[in-house]
Amino acid sequence: MRITVIGTGYVGLVTGVALSEIGHVVTCIDVDPVKVEKLSQGIPTIYEPGLEELMKKNMKANRLFFTAKHQEGLQEAEVVYIAVGTPQREDGSANLNYVEQAARDIAANVSRDLIVVIKSTVPVGTNLYIKDIINSYTKNGHQIKIASNPEFLREGSAVKDTFHGDRIVIGAEDEETANVLAEINAPFHMPIVKTDISSAEMIKYASNAFLATKISFINEIANICEALGANVEEVAKGMGFDHRIGSQFLRAGIGYGGSCFPKDTNALVQLAGNHHHEFNLLKSVIEVNNHQQILLVDKILSRFDSLSGKRIAVLGLAFKPHTDDLRESPSLVMVPKLARLGADIIAYDPIAVDNAKRQIDTEIEYTKDLSEALQGADCAVIITDWPDVKNIELTAYRRLMKLPIVFDGRNCYPLDAVKQAGLEYYSIGRPNQTPELIS
Ligand code: UGA
Repeated sequence: MRITVIGTGYVGLVTGVALSEIGHVVTCIDVDPVKVEKLSQGIPTIYEPGLEELMKKNMKANRLFFTAKHQEGLQEAEVVYIAVGTPQREDGSANLNYVEQAARDIAANVSRDLIVVIKSTVPVGTNLYIKDIINSYTKNGHQIKIASNPEFLREGSAVKDTFHGDRIVIGAEDEETANVLAEINAPFHMPIVKTDISSAEMIKYASNAFLATKISFINEIANICEALGANVEEVAKGMGFDHRIGSQFLRAGIGYGGSCFPKDTNALVQLAGNHHHEFNLLKSVIEVNNHQQILLVDKILSRFDSLSGKRIAVLGLAFKPHTDDLRESPSLVMVPKLARLGADIIAYDPIAVDNAKRQIDTEIEYTKDLSEALQGADCAVIITDWPDVKNIELTAYRRLMKLPIVFDGRNCYPLDAVKQAGLEYYSIGRPNQTPELIS
């Protein structure tokens, strides 16, 4: 199949590369010529393990191309994927400007009957609305079919998720269109769920909302565990054995971030509200998460009389490990808050420092060296569970810091190891470890 993908963000680029890997001839279009130039040299514009190798391989095999010109990218296409961003508007709803523009660009350049596949996460009803836009702008009467094919990949494991996901959802207006998409996706060897377009759109929102709910649920259990002296990790383990519950997404911490859960939960609340339904459960999930993101600041404040002049090592800035993405990361809330309280902050992240400098406008120090961050610090605050933070020799905290006090927002260490290392240690939903220390 000759496939064109519009948009080369996480979803678009990974989709384009993956479709070329399974044998299709793929052209990726992006409006940003600088980005296209970089991609055309085989350099990914996002950090995603395994992507660069696949990109280079398929470009070399003449199955993967990049262009900033819509006409060039759309002329030969049999199927066009729209994978542009749907950022959050002020009111929480999804901004569809980029999707609408992609629809107009398709209409202006369509030269045959075409299937348009929407991969971007869009509110229920958008696929048909986009079909109307394309049809109303198309001049030469070609037949446009539309399909929803939502994406379930995670940042940081996008390539792995694309090839080893749990399911492929195809929402199409007729059987024939669904079959073409099933055929395109057959080499992924995953269960295919064929359904109507609105249900496919809703599957995406409902899945993300459910996962966010699991996280907020376990975070609330963690907060109650703290009050009762229980250990949330033990609780999650015990719950997870029940297959009806499942063990995944029950890691308590300082809340979910990223470009998806916060945006999609808000959009679903908004969408429900537009249809006179108060989605109270999801509103609470969001509220719990907002509170969870600042919980560690409260813990730090109750440990120290004042943060004025205290040197705080912030470990991790990205919203999760293996990505340089800071969108909705708890670090964006915590770092300015700690700085306002007078702390002198040094922030460590192995790959997100450059993005952080652009997004955090508080004056702080940055480093890509974990030891440097810990050197002489009064306390350390773990925001991202990077492998090198998780695997650090715990004695390093004693050796390098002024005081070995650690506030762990990701429950990185077993409590007995922490005890053995003699750290003063506060985590989420687990008993505090407070040895003889320290004033
Ligand atoms: C999420 C979904 O997992 C994907 O299935 C979906 O395709 C994607 O959104 C999307 O809509 O595009 P992603 O945002 O990349 O993927 O990251 P996740 O790995 O799901 O993590 C999201 C946040 O939840 C992170 O901040 C992570 O630290 C947090 N999390 C996750 C927890 O706090 N506890 C957990 O048990 C799991």
